[in-house]
Amino acid sequence: MSRRVTLIPGDGIGPEVVESARRVVDALKLDIAWEYRDAGLGAVDKYGSPLPEETLTSIKNNRIGLKGPTTTPIGTGHKSINVVLRQALELYACIRPVKSLPNVESRYHDVDLIIVRENTEGLYKGLESQITNDAVVSLKVVTRAASIRIAQCAFSLAKKQNRKKVSTIHKANILKLGDGLFLNCARKVAEDYPEITAEDVIIDALCMKLVTDPNRFDVLLLENLYGDIVSDLCAGLVGGLGLVPGANLGEQNAVFEAVHGSAPDIAGKGIANPIAMILSAVLMLEHLSERSAAERLYQAVCKVLKLGAFRTPDLGGTSSTAQVTEAIISQI
Ligand code: NAI
Ligand code: MG
Repeated sequence: MSRRVTLIPGDGIGPEVVESARRVVDALKLDIAWEYRDAGLGAVDKYGSPLPEETLTSIKNNRIGLKGPTTTPIGTGHKSINVVLRQALELYACIRPVKSLPNVESRYHDVDLIIVRENTEGLYKGLESQITNDAVVSLKVVTRAASIRIAQCAFSLAKKQNRKKVSTIHKANILKLGDGLFLNCARKVAEDYPEITAEDVIIDALCMKLVTDPNRFDVLLLENLYGDIVSDLCAGLVGGLGLVPGANLGEQNAVFEAVHGSAPDIAGKGIANPIAMILSAVLMLEHLSERSAAERLYQAVCKVLKLGAFRTPDLGGTSSTAQVTEAIISQI
């Protein structure tokens, strides 16, 4: 019986890069059946909601999804679909491997970090209230249960992948209670992993250290907002948002998506870099225990980058999304 995977094209460059990822996975000739489901701006017109119930149900049934980015209105309008999706499916861990790829122009080489981001709380609870006309409070929620759960995820991942160090990122000097709890939970979990070096780094100092010497880090454990910001920063260390994949994992469900957003500035032009989405599919294949297929796809991407003939404009090339996709398929 074929393995069913929910496929969400999303909006902006989403449909372009998701189509590319679907094509390269199909080229691996695995028995995967795609269940297309809507989310994003297009779904609002069709279903009256940016995240239709059908889409959530499909992921719950299949327990796995591959998702393109979706646009979130700024300052007004509907809540972020990603935030709703992560909270509704209890996708509490966001894992983003940031690794230098061959023949990509960058100031750094051999970057090999894993970002572990708490995905369900912090400021992303969206608990904001208007106190007076001129004052708003936004509540940052930190619970012991969620902090322990994500710390366990970071340390067990570090152990499984033979990593040496987990750095817990915080601002507990200012947010003594909230970030203090997050940090204390991480320190507690670290006691169970004596073979892994545990350190604490204050978020602002982390940013400086990352851009001067990213290789001194290994696994980064962060709460939700810091994880969001540091993800894009780290993408910049290895050649940009067009290259960095991600996984949102829970006990029951898993949704794979790139770090980047819907990139409205280049949407519809056929020039989006599909590699971040394709590497998200690699993570999905690993999750499905299709290890050799995942490795074949990863190597095909590396080969195309090494050869250098086909690259999208974000990497200094002139190729289209479709040309890069074809080149990768031809290496499979
Ligand atoms: P963005 O990540 O969409 O784009 C930032 C910059 O990176 C742009 O110049 C864009 O052209 C470039 N870029 C991103 N992905 C690229 C790719 N694959 N190939 C080549 N260039 C690429 O961030 P932005 O513009 O701040 O956000 C746009 C929308 O996306 C917003 O509505 C935001 O809320 C949403 N968003 C959605 C996410 C998701 O669905 N998972 C994640 C992040 C943002
Ligand atoms: Mg982000």
